Amino acid sequence: MSEKLAIYGGTPAVDVSKVVPWPPVNEIDDKLVMQALHARVQSRGEQNLAFEKEFSAWNGNKFALFTNSGTAALHMCIVGCGIGAGDHVLVTAYSWSSSATCILHHDAIPIFVDIDPETFLIDPDKIEAAITPRTKAIIVVQLHGLCADMDKINAIARKHHLKVIEDACQAHGAMYKGRKAGTLGDCAAFSFNQNKCLSCGEGGMFVTNDQKIYDNAAKLWSFGETARPEQSRDYHAYALGWMYRNNELTAAYGRAQLSKYDYYFNTLRANGEYLLKNLAGTPNLLLPYEPEWAVHNWYNFNLRIDFDKLGVSDPKQQVRFRDAVAVCLKNEGIVASVWQRFILPEMTVFRAKNAYGQGYPWSIPGADEGVDYSLEKFPNALAYSRKHISIVQTLRAPNGLDIAEQVRQGIEKVFTSFDQIDVDRIEKIVEARKKK
Ligand SMILES: Cc1ncc(COP(=O)(O)O)c(C=O)c1O
Repeated sequence: MSEKLAIYGGTPAVDVSKVVPWPPVNEIDDKLVMQALHARVQSRGEQNLAFEKEFSAWNGNKFALFTNSGTAALHMCIVGCGIGAGDHVLVTAYSWSSSATCILHHDAIPIFVDIDPETFLIDPDKIEAAITPRTKAIIVVQLHGLCADMDKINAIARKHHLKVIEDACQAHGAMYKGRKAGTLGDCAAFSFNQNKCLSCGEGGMFVTNDQKIYDNAAKLWSFGETARPEQSRDYHAYALGWMYRNNELTAAYGRAQLSKYDYYFNTLRANGEYLLKNLAGTPNLLLPYEPEWAVHNWYNFNLRIDFDKLGVSDPKQQVRFRDAVAVCLKNEGIVASVWQRFILPEMTVFRAKNAYGQGYPWSIPGADEGVDYSLEKFPNALAYSRKHISIVQTLRAPNGLDIAEQVRQGIEKVFTSFDQIDVDRIEKIVEARKKK
């Protein structure tokens, strides 16, 4: 009989009192944020400029604009690349909603491409078949902090004259053949929301090396104006814009966190490698994979349940069992969750083909030609959405190998105790706790 699981009253594998919550803050953050707070300028000031300069230098981009979210930076990518009404943009079938809604907001149409079953990223071998005469760009989501096979994708893009946009919102410091995420396409978006490996509460960064893309994107950033923060404003809308700027306090916090990022990155790398090595061979468990071209940042160290070996094929049963396993891991003291349970083409906004009313933008003449959101086209994304469990913050700095070892024990304990996983009982426990 396996050790009693914590969900049923056993001792949790992780001593949560020893886990430092994310993100860690210290005197470096205090100093910079207080400096910004007491400065006379709290918008469009030197903290914003310094953060952009430091981030672009660290990442290797010519231009950077600090935004109030990663989603705002994605919108800037779309506009920067000149994508407009009725254009088609390819995007992975499995990601965060705004990886695809950013396309719709600019009157263009997302065309979904299934994922590779091993990397969980857009499958480069399925891209060409999805290209239509209206296709203008590919959004490559460097999901979980892993870069896709960019040489393959860029070669296809060149052949078909497409722009490549990186959704690098989860990929700070991740690398492809020695180059960093955010330098691998025409432009990119990063997120700094609280869950991200580099966080300042909320925020994002638009980056590019291309002057024209930058100029187009920059107009969206601040009401369609063209004045840079260091220039005085004429308050003239030269184009349609939004208010995507961020403030000085948040920029200062971002700078402080960036100054510690290499340490954060190395710590998480070490913890991820430790788990990969020491969980190998755990029954019922499929571990993530780091292709030879990649340095993963382990933003999300994801686990999959080996349903083929378990002989569970019914999708509903898989989801209930997976959710119960996630609950068990959580009770062992691991911040485990189901990151995204819906694939993008399953989401109502796409299924209804109605973003701005009256079927727009699909109702643009000719725009809907070749658009097929049938779920059967995305078997790998669907399978992944039913079997994965995400582990994020527990493995982040300053939590080191001692915590990683406790996490390993928790994962091993749960995955070797499937005989104890009574789904009905666990669902009842969860319901009862919610009512308390
Ligand atoms: C892959 C991906 N794209 C886009 C976003 C959007 O970032 P934000 O929350 O900063 O708008 C996120 C984060 O939530 C993400 O994980």
